[in-house]
Amino acid sequence: MASYKSFAVVGAGMIGLPIINALAERNASVVLLSRPGSSTKAVPSAVEIVQVDYNDVTAVATVFKQFKVEVVLSTVNFAGIAAQKSLIDAAKIAAVKLFAPSEYGAPTDTQPAGASNPIGGIAPKNQIAKNQIAEYLKSVNLPSMRIFTGLFIEVIPWLVGYSDHGKVRIVGKGEAPASFTSVTDIAGFVAYVLTTLPPTELEDSIFRLEGERSSLNDLGGQFKTLVEHVDRIEGEAGEVKTGLLLLLGSGAGSTGWDEAKKAERSGTEAAGSANALWQGHRWKTIKEVLNL
Ligand SMILES: NC(=O)c1ccc[n+]([C@@H]2O[C@H](COP(=O)([O-])OP(=O)(O)OC[C@H]3O[C@@H](n4cnc5c(N)ncnc54)[C@H](OP(=O)(O)O)[C@@H]3O)[C@@H](O)[C@H]2O)c1
Ligand SMILES: *[C@@H]1O[C@H](CO)[C@@H](O)[C@H](O)[C@H]1NC(C)=O
Repeated sequence: MASYKSFAVVGAGMIGLPIINALAERNASVVLLSRPGSSTKAVPSAVEIVQVDYNDVTAVATVFKQFKVEVVLSTVNFAGIAAQKSLIDAAKIAAVKLFAPSEYGAPTDTQPAGASNPIGGIAPKNQIAKNQIAEYLKSVNLPSMRIFTGLFIEVIPWLVGYSDHGKVRIVGKGEAPASFTSVTDIAGFVAYVLTTLPPTELEDSIFRLEGERSSLNDLGGQFKTLVEHVDRIEGEAGEVKTGLLLLLGSGAGSTGWDEAKKAERSGTEAAGSANALWQGHRWKTIKEVLNL
């Protein structure tokens, strides 16, 4: 069976925009869905932009049908995770063949749904909500593609506070290895597999990417600076940062992490096991992306 040709991307933010660009570079047909009143998005001229309320199932389904969309890529942010249900209902009505929910982080597939999580902050809630969306896709029999990437390399300076104070400030011991992948590599991978692999290899897939593997502690060496250990991060987004740092330090930031077993997976489920699908590609390192 031939590979997919027609895509809808929902939301064009930090990961959505690079995915749109990468798909356009591969000459795919792309429509961008954006909410009414949302900011203007700078996309390649071949990309159509349609403004539609993501909660209006009939209206979204009409757009998917109009553009003969085969694959929907949702790249909505934390505030939109739960609302993806209406996008899924619309995709189902429009006979979309594959739905890639907004993942693009640590693995969420072994997060016990609704279970209380000892790690504070927004990150674990985000994880649980993402897994619930994947469960919903299964329940309506819509094939999914989930991309686990670990932390975007581009957000490391923000997360560890390097952009504020020139140090690497972390919560916890910071000894566990975590996965870090650049946004451009993630977008390139998504566009490559969607436009080259046969649909059977994409349906109900989980791809575990890893540009580079590092502990939080070892980031100090990369930035050639001290690592400070604190109980919590204060200031703007402090709670989010604290939650993310604890998550990464627990081992759960590795794309091969199995949260149920509290252990690394191996073989075809290992961290970075999907990297090889992008033939001939060399994955960017932390040093390269951040010019360290
Ligand atoms: N691994 C990492 O380090 C990392 C870092 C950042 C993000 N992520 C993940 O990547 C995914 C996308 O995040 P992002 O940072 O790219 O997002 P973002 O740039 O903040 O926003 C993406 C899109 O979300 C839509 N949106 C905003 N508020 C919404 C709402 N209330 N309801 C529905 N949609 C809403 C907007 O669409 P409109 O165009 O309609 O306004 C926006 O373009 C998320 O799953 C996030 O967890 C991972
Ligand atoms: C996209 O189209 C251009 C112009 O026709 C062509 O040069 C290029 O090789 C195409 N790219 C891919 C990935 O097919």
